Amino acid sequence: MDVKSVGVIGAGQMGNGIAHVMALAGYNVLLNDISQDALDAAIETIKGNLARQVSRGKIGDDEMQAALQRIKTTLNLPEIGQTDLVIEAATEREAIKHAIFEDLQPHLQAHTILTSNTSSISITRLASRTDRPERFMGFHFMNPVPVMQLVELIRGIATDEETFATCKAVVDRLGKTAASAEDFPAFIVNRILMPMINEAVYTLYEGVGSVQSIDQSMKLGANHPMGPLELADFIGLDTCLAIMNVLHEGLADTKYRPCPLLTKYVEAGWLGRKTDRGFYDYR
Ligand code: CAA
Repeated sequence: MDVKSVGVIGAGQMGNGIAHVMALAGYNVLLNDISQDALDAAIETIKGNLARQVSRGKIGDDEMQAALQRIKTTLNLPEIGQTDLVIEAATEREAIKHAIFEDLQPHLQAHTILTSNTSSISITRLASRTDRPERFMGFHFMNPVPVMQLVELIRGIATDEETFATCKAVVDRLGKTAASAEDFPAFIVNRILMPMINEAVYTLYEGVGSVQSIDQSMKLGANHPMGPLELADFIGLDTCLAIMNVLHEGLADTKYRPCPLLTKYVEAGWLGRKTDRGFYDYR
């Protein structure tokens, strides 16, 4: 199938990045959110990130203008049904995702492929509540979307080969690299990354090292671009906790037990950069 238009649901950190890279690759993008303020903020973020790419000589000003022309926004979810490929990037709560797909379903074209950018929720379970589990899969970008090279493509149990091949062709056109993952809790990247971040929080909790020494150790000792606690703040501590809970419940192994300190930070509303406070203070 030849994808021409992409519907992105959710204009947050991931959604605006997805709209950005899709438009730059030549797709017509329809970006949806329940809040006009979120849509306006997303367009401003996309403009800023495209302008940065222009200033660094990565793209031309004409490419930036053409990309911006290709992005339309809507508060009306049913309009998303007119696109060829839907990428849901709403809040990482399963009930919200089910409700979105349920509301969208009556408005979908027969050929439209549904995908979710979920970082850990079961693709098979999300797909099973739609009318097209064979044309449903996981399309998981990494943050920041315009910079990170990888996209995880996750097959649900019923995903057909044409759907996978269509999504793989989209990833190729973005100039990114697809990693194929089976549908098990947290897929590949977060199955490995989140236990490392959780272990860094335990290392802090048990007093083995300070925030600074833990991050510095992993940056200088393991060549990570960001320390694990800085990265947790960047991803969002609520997201990190949610993924640890999915691993803990889904794999029923105590090695995935979320660190009590991570839970405490989330309960305090210290969610990282987005709330100006996490392991670091951004105020
Ligand atoms: N949009 C566009 N470009 C951006 C950008 C954005 N949002 N953020 C950074 N950039 C660009 C910069 O312009 C810069 O480009 P040039 O190389 O052309 O100069 C480049 O990215 C590097 O940025 P900076 O120089 O500002 O900063 P940096 O060198 O410290 O890199 C970083 C920033 C790319 C975020 C780097 O620290 C990094 O790779 N960190 C790790 C990120 C990571 O692990 N992400 C995955 C998280 S896990 C996930 O996403 C999955 C999940 O489900 C939770």
